Amino acid sequence: QPTYVVIGNPIAHSKSPQIHALFAAQFPGHPAVTDFFYDRLLAPLDGFAAAVHDFAVAGGRGANVTVPFKEDAYRFAAELTTRAQAAGAVNTLKRLSSGNWLGDNTDGAGLVADVLRHVEIKDRRILLLGAGGAARGVILPLLAQQPASLSLANRTLSKAEGLLNQFSTMSTIPLLAHEFSHLNSDYDLIINATSASLGGERLPITNSVFAPNALAYDMMYGKVETPFLAQAREAGVTLRVDGLGMLVGQAAEAFELWTSLRPDVEPVLQWMREQL
Ligand code: ATR
Repeated sequence: QPTYVVIGNPIAHSKSPQIHALFAAQFPGHPAVTDFFYDRLLAPLDGFAAAVHDFAVAGGRGANVTVPFKEDAYRFAAELTTRAQAAGAVNTLKRLSSGNWLGDNTDGAGLVADVLRHVEIKDRRILLLGAGGAARGVILPLLAQQPASLSLANRTLSKAEGLLNQFSTMSTIPLLAHEFSHLNSDYDLIINATSASLGGERLPITNSVFAPNALAYDMMYGKVETPFLAQAREAGVTLRVDGLGMLVGQAAEAFELWTSLRPDVEPVLQWMREQL
């Protein structure tokens, strides 16, 4: 019986079991990981709550939640962290001693930790591309790093405006919604949170959005360069990072929530890169 699972549909492709097994192996003999057994759990599309309930009855202690259940998990959790509330989605569940499930969202912290491995965020101008769930999940953790400003560009402007409105009272950092065609130039950190790369599509941005020494970050990753990172390369950007480090980073945050142990992401990220 697994004590930890990743729940999704589909789930067979999930890399989370390998990542968490490597984290646990960094603490041999530690009491917090002696019964750490992490597996995949396929839930029916209309059966998320029942699946978590059965898992709890069988001794489950924690779960990662992936597509398409992050909003289900948000509604399911009896308690929510501030960052899960801000994200409107839950990617990590922890069974509390009361028996209640705590819902957290570690995606934004995973992104921030990965970006900080390359550049500082404080006082930098951020351009976030996209206004869906992926973008929403990272806004509060990015603002916590005290950037100079956060601009949000989306194909549908009203969605960008609506999203930023939700954060306007939570921070004094300037929040700006833009259409792709009305972006300023010279952003320091440009993050692609759209799903355009999934369809192999490029974004309607010009080379001027990238400041000299900018970091281009794509939440997507793959064996081949993503369309967004190809755009950045052609614009002359040398600092280009894909989302594999965010994946490992969000897992590290979840592992720490469950075990209070802080794993080293670097060797796990290297191993994952080799497996792509
Ligand atoms: P996710 O949970 O991955 O964020 P989502 O909520 O469906 O998925 O959001 C997808 C995001 O990618 C949206 O910001 C979407 O833009 P719209 O709000 O205008 O639909 C954006 N997106 C998807 N395909 C795109 C494309 N080809 N060009 C630009 N933006 C695109």
